[in-house]
Amino acid sequence: MVDLVAELKKNPFILAPMAGITDSPFRSFMREMGCGVLITELVSAYGIEYRSARTLELMKFTEPQRPLGVQIFGEDGEILAKAAAFVESMGADFVDINLGCPVPKVVKKGAGSALLKEPLVLQKILTQVKSAIKIPLTIKIRTGWDEKTINASEIVRAAYNSGVTWVAIHGRTRAQGYSGLADWDLVKKVKETSPLPIIGNGDLVTAEKAVKRLQETGCDGVMIGRGCLKNPWIFQQCKELWSQQSTGQVEKNFCQSLGRLKELVDERKDDRYSLLQMKKFVAWFSSGYPNSQTFRKSLFQAQTASEILGGAQNYFNQFDISHQLDTSHEAFLMGGHG
Ligand SMILES: Cc1cc2nc3c(=O)[nH]c(=O)nc-3n(C[C@H](O)[C@H](O)[C@H](O)COP(=O)(O)O)c2cc1C
Repeated sequence: MVDLVAELKKNPFILAPMAGITDSPFRSFMREMGCGVLITELVSAYGIEYRSARTLELMKFTEPQRPLGVQIFGEDGEILAKAAAFVESMGADFVDINLGCPVPKVVKKGAGSALLKEPLVLQKILTQVKSAIKIPLTIKIRTGWDEKTINASEIVRAAYNSGVTWVAIHGRTRAQGYSGLADWDLVKKVKETSPLPIIGNGDLVTAEKAVKRLQETGCDGVMIGRGCLKNPWIFQQCKELWSQQSTGQVEKNFCQSLGRLKELVDERKDDRYSLLQMKKFVAWFSSGYPNSQTFRKSLFQAQTASEILGGAQNYFNQFDISHQLDTSHEAFLMGGHG
């Protein structure tokens, strides 16, 4: 059985689950690029109940991705418990429950962040889920439903009473969506009195910020989402800074890294998928480099993933890639499921 706390001590930098982005090939890539524990994007507990082909596809992972958790969402304790037992039977290392999704389609049914409104009901559900599995159960939450009902500490207590192993906190309320900034003072406050390990999350776009937040808040780990889409080396940089064993600059080599990413997406043997993924990632990775807008436009004319890779190699060879402008002030992926 995986010891998640020991895993955090080895590597406290976790890839945040992102629907449509952190699929199996990208998770493999990020693990090779230095991230710690992995979690799948959210999958519906009802989808698992009905053995939906799409849901089962989203749950697939490879051995090198361990330790890996499957994230489920739903509002019904029994359905969630059955889904968790299925996740365990398929060999995942742990189950994570999404309690942070702000998307109307999800919260209208009472799932995702809607479950934060009733800590006692949530405690019952988490206890039911935990009793259906032997592997660890973790949760990912927001700070509360809205600014008047910030209750992350109460939720952590409910999680502790239910046998949950850790709580990841995206430092925004559900009402905030992706606007404003993550409230790291609140994350720190919750951590100070928490009986459980806490993973902080939100707006960690550089390794310096991630390590600073980890150290300032005393959190047991930090989760990085959008930051790795502009800088795929962020996890390696975090680990170097954190261990104070800097070998100088982590070597950034786009040709090599993008070539590896292409190999991983090509394993699906689906040309259209490879083309779309490479387009997306190369476009994001070019953020903050010279003439990136023109370069991105050119990407959208490419017909194959190999063309994208060739174009990217030409582009990134034109300048010194250690000089990337900070584009964190620009709106970037301001919607998601957690
Ligand atoms: C496109 C997108 C999809 C997301 N999907 C999920 C998801 O499936 N499950 C989840 O818990 N959070 C999801 N999130 C939220 C992220 O895990 C993370 O909490 C959020 O992006 C804040 O972290 P960041 O500022 O490092 O990106 C998603 C975010 C984005 C941008």
